[in-house]
Amino acid sequence: MKTKTAPHLDKKDFFDKVEEFVENHIEEKIKKGLDDVENFLKKELSDFKQKRKHGKEDDEASVFSYFEHFLKDKKVASVTPSTKFLINKVFKRMDLGNTRTVIEYGPAAGVMTKPLLRRLPATGRVLAVERNGELASILQQFQDPRLTVIHGSVIEIDRHAAEQGIGLADVIVSGIPFSFLTPLERHQLLHKTVDLLRPGGRFIAYQVTTHLAALMKYHFQDVDIDFEVRNLPPHFVFTGYK
Ligand SMILES: C[S@@+](CC[C@H](N)C(=O)[O-])C[C@H]1O[C@@H](n2cnc3c(N)ncnc32)[C@H](O)[C@@H]1O
Repeated sequence: MKTKTAPHLDKKDFFDKVEEFVENHIEEKIKKGLDDVENFLKKELSDFKQKRKHGKEDDEASVFSYFEHFLKDKKVASVTPSTKFLINKVFKRMDLGNTRTVIEYGPAAGVMTKPLLRRLPATGRVLAVERNGELASILQQFQDPRLTVIHGSVIEIDRHAAEQGIGLADVIVSGIPFSFLTPLERHQLLHKTVDLLRPGGRFIAYQVTTHLAALMKYHFQDVDIDFEVRNLPPHFVFTGYK
């Protein structure tokens, strides 16, 4: 007698389907939504500047500072900092109980770095690499002996880590837009990232699009994908396990 076997869901097929679905149904909407948000914030910012001109400035300044950086430098790639929902989703993937050394790609002014330092032990260490000089210097003012901020590109993460005496990291977390790198740079960066992780370490990258999915699957045997809608714009969180 023939026994029925449960249908086997191949992880690769599943990811391919998710990617295809997002590319065909969601990505255009995200891009359109981002343009709408940019236009909305531009208008709000110009109203705010008018107020500032007339001496009616209030604490709205901090609300717009991230957006002003974005307008000056599109490679900042985000109009608002990550929300607590996205940050918590990233932290859930970190295995914080076993995490001491973290490398952060693209911390901006430290929206994720600061809560991360609160969760790390006194012996912990964070190496944060930010290419935007103004944002890097804001984070450099943050007083915590466990934090080292480098103004530079993660493309040279191997050199930065060696110069700072970082051996192997438990976690590498990334907010940089991989879409701004060339395909070769993306591959090289993922190679360097894998090399810098201890066995069992994790690479966690939060991204607007699914473009990183194929590369993650190429460089890591196991990859998880989460999605956080409560962020502007919504983000995918890719976790690769070494
Ligand atoms: C989308 S923002 C994320 C900022 C912050 N981590 C957050 O969660 O809100 C991306 C950041 O990566 C930085 N960045 C982009 N390319 C980079 C690179 N090649 N090396 C280092 N930082 C980079 C940008 O300047 C920006 O601050």
